[in-house]
Amino acid sequence: MSTEPIVKEYSNGEITVVWKPQACIHSGICLRGLPEVFDLKKRPWVTMDAASSEAIVGLVRDCPSKALSIKGVKFKEEDRSETQVNLIHGGPLIIRGGATVTNRNKEEVFHETVSFCRCGRSNKFPYCDGTHAQPKAK
Ligand code: SF4
Ligand code: FES
Repeated sequence: MSTEPIVKEYSNGEITVVWKPQACIHSGICLRGLPEVFDLKKRPWVTMDAASSEAIVGLVRDCPSKALSIKGVKFKEEDRSETQVNLIHGGPLIIRGGATVTNRNKEEVFHETVSFCRCGRSNKFPYCDGTHAQPKAK
């Protein structure tokens, strides 16, 4: 069986959105931010002509896991005067603007953006891996 990661691409002829489902942590930021473009009920779930390229790029930039990206574009972290903390309902706590995390080996790891698990079910604890979006085992 192939273990190649799935990579999908969606283009409007101007920009191409790249989607890596394995990296998604189900923050729902794309679904709430541009529901006319990102809609799980549609196939394909990305409708590239439903918003401007500028709006799509702005949204993709906000994807905390980088599951969404724009082909050929490497985003620089935005200059932020302060750290932003975003609590996702039923999901992770996302910190943007830089955070240094000390792991159990007392090593310090710097993240521009980091998502902490709040449900306690992540396989990558303390980081969110999207497990919160799956039904709990009975
Ligand atoms: S992690 Fe990215 S792709 Fe996944 S739901 Fe959040 S914004 Fe969308
Ligand atoms: S909050 Fe996402 S896996 Fe726990």
